[in-house]
Amino acid sequence: MNSSRRAQGIAPFHVMDILARAKALEAQGRDIIHLEIGEPDFPTPEPIVQMAMQAIRDGDVHYTPALGLPELRESITTFYRARYGVEVPASRIAVTPGASGALLLALGVLLDAGDEILMADPGYPCNRHFASFIDAVPVRIPVGPDTAFQLTPQRVERHWTERTKAVLLASPSNPTGTLARDADIRDIAELCAARGAVLIVDEIYHGLVYEGSPQTALAHSDQVIVINSFSKYYHMTGWRLGWLAAPVHLMGGIERLAQNLYLAPPTPAQFAALAAFSEETQAILEGRRLELKARRDFLLPALRELGFGLPVAPEGAFYLYADVSRFTGDSFAFAEQMLEKAGVAITPGLDFGEVLPEKYVRFAYARPLPVLQEAVTRIRRFLGVKSA
Ligand SMILES: Cc1ncc(COP(=O)(O)O)c(C=O)c1O
Repeated sequence: MNSSRRAQGIAPFHVMDILARAKALEAQGRDIIHLEIGEPDFPTPEPIVQMAMQAIRDGDVHYTPALGLPELRESITTFYRARYGVEVPASRIAVTPGASGALLLALGVLLDAGDEILMADPGYPCNRHFASFIDAVPVRIPVGPDTAFQLTPQRVERHWTERTKAVLLASPSNPTGTLARDADIRDIAELCAARGAVLIVDEIYHGLVYEGSPQTALAHSDQVIVINSFSKYYHMTGWRLGWLAAPVHLMGGIERLAQNLYLAPPTPAQFAALAAFSEETQAILEGRRLELKARRDFLLPALRELGFGLPVAPEGAFYLYADVSRFTGDSFAFAEQMLEKAGVAITPGLDFGEVLPEKYVRFAYARPLPVLQEAVTRIRRFLGVKSA
């Protein structure tokens, strides 16, 4: 029997082809620089690791409530108060298996079959697949450098139909690292509330912002759903832990979905995360944020100088979404050649949507500065650009 139509409709990550080829080249002894991988290269901070080991030794390995460990939900409440000055009671917080689990719950609690969810294209590819998985309709709104690759109230308005039940945006965004404007988030939230829909804001990269300090969408409205995660800023990708904050009337539905989809988020990871907000951990994380900023501050001008189109300086995450139309009409082939000839792996735009994917590639600067410097040297040689 074939896999379901639903499963067949889910596009593979094209970067996996690049990764497989990179591994094959490495097996032949080639040195490959990995700028395709969307996760930080830092280890999990030691206080978090220690907390996990203690919990496992103490036998804290049983199911927690489906919405998460009460102490951790309280810690997240304290986090919103301390960082943003916003009150979000623990009763509105669900701890989840990564932001991925949170996105699935959010879409699951909001959308019925045939309902539409508006999202930016380019964007994080799993979002549209989550929507199709529950038979909802992802409506992809083209965005470009003119709006810093973000949705605006006008664009949302233009794509609104009577089936629109949710709008999803990520700020900072993957693949572009750009922020949505606070005022736009507030206006989109108001527009949604006025029409009986809900705005979902994915703030997974909110801890990794290098310019200004954007507000959480929860500061604008208690009717939005905010997604966050321990994966990126807290360097816990493999621990599979995230959270969402939702309007109180949706929490019952979210809890029932969580109970049935996965019973509970992983227990050792939840205990570990209790150490994520401590002063000691915060000092480590802030140091790493500054290190990531330094990498961006190196790579962004270096790529611009080589001729990559990066008209909007990304304020956060660890991605640069570069226009390569000066070099090629096919960014996938360009990424393949860069791997073969320069030994630098990057992600083709094809993975992020349908808006001119052949024009873009994503660089993830989740590698140490000397490695990025070597990457630029290799790319310069590959492109045949003379040193300035
Ligand atoms: C924008 C965005 N949202 C959500 C996720 C999922 O993250 P996780 O499930 O590891 O928390 C990612 C991962 O790359 C992402 O880039």
